[in-house]
Amino acid sequence: MSAQQLMKVFVTRRIPQEGMKILRQAGMCNLSVWDSDEPVPRAELLKGVTGAHGLVCLLSDKIDTEVLDAAGPNLKVISTMSVGFDHLAIDEIKKRGIRVGYTPDVLTDATAELTVALLLATARRLPEGVLEVKNGGWSTWKPLWLCGYGLSGSTVGVIGLGRIGLAIAKRLMPFGVKRLLYTGRGAKPEAKEVDGQFVPLDTLASESDFIVVSCSFTPDTQGLCNKAFFSKMKKSAVFINTSRGAVVNQEDLYEALSGGTIAAAGLDVTTPEPLPTDHPLLTLSNCVVLPHIGSATYATRGIMAELTANNLLSGLTGDAMPTELKI
Ligand code: NDP
Ligand code: DGY
Repeated sequence: MSAQQLMKVFVTRRIPQEGMKILRQAGMCNLSVWDSDEPVPRAELLKGVTGAHGLVCLLSDKIDTEVLDAAGPNLKVISTMSVGFDHLAIDEIKKRGIRVGYTPDVLTDATAELTVALLLATARRLPEGVLEVKNGGWSTWKPLWLCGYGLSGSTVGVIGLGRIGLAIAKRLMPFGVKRLLYTGRGAKPEAKEVDGQFVPLDTLASESDFIVVSCSFTPDTQGLCNKAFFSKMKKSAVFINTSRGAVVNQEDLYEALSGGTIAAAGLDVTTPEPLPTDHPLLTLSNCVVLPHIGSATYATRGIMAELTANNLLSGLTGDAMPTELKI
């Protein structure tokens, strides 16, 4: 292929080499990469995407009308290295006939595993315990010290029993969970696998000992977990969010945690990301915050990068993508 026949592809970040290798070896792309671990500055994104046929992006890149306009009419395919696609202006993308690839399934296990780890760390107060060991707060074994909540005999509520929600539920059931409640847009046949009971959000809030948020971020789920929601929860309940930060009203969560409305929260996702180090939530000992590491295993990130590259190439050649978002 001559240089002119190569298709211009902009990659907005340094991604795992598994993905880059596929893109390079395909021999059909004129690759331009923002070769950094840090997000591409907006101006560089707009410059880099100009005239591109393909765009590889991450969840931290807002792909809106301005970016699409900067890309221009060549743009055939956007391949995001994420399963979440709330950073993409889907209506506008659809209008322009651009295809979208994303990475469902391959990160489900890693994200479900991290969610269980976060739930246990939050409920059993692991970060507090580690801190006490390091700062000399561990004086002796004390019957009433650092007690938390266990899963055995509990009711777990899952908001969004999708791929990840179901995988979380399957991992939690063997801990001796008694009831599994879930909510979403409708009852799901696969809920049978975890003996799940479809309930309204309010019922889930008031009856669960542990609440796990694993829904997608949409206009309907924005701020779903707010003051009214937290006020219905048990005082002893633990709240976990590994979906997107904006599903939670963080001011309301802060009030609920600091005022004793709920027991504790574990968040892998926040608004904004990164959460500023002086954010009120970080002053609370009953709030465990992680830096959006749900899918962060070496293997998973490698496979996500491969899938992202293969989606992109199929989009460029007009073939069926391994995992195309139906828009
Ligand atoms: P799925 O599409 O399989 O699941 C999304 C779920 O959200 C569906 O069950 C859907 O329910 C539910 N949902 C949609 N609207 C609502 C609503 N109004 N109320 C309650 N539930 C709703 O996606 P995945 O399970 O693969 O991923 C889910 C999300 O997890 C991603 O969108 C992403 O934001 C996040 N994620 C976070 C990661 C991390 O690192 N922390 C890693 C990977 C993903 P229904 O089927 O009834 O419509
Ligand atoms: C996603 O894929 O949507 C996650 O948030 C990161 O893996």
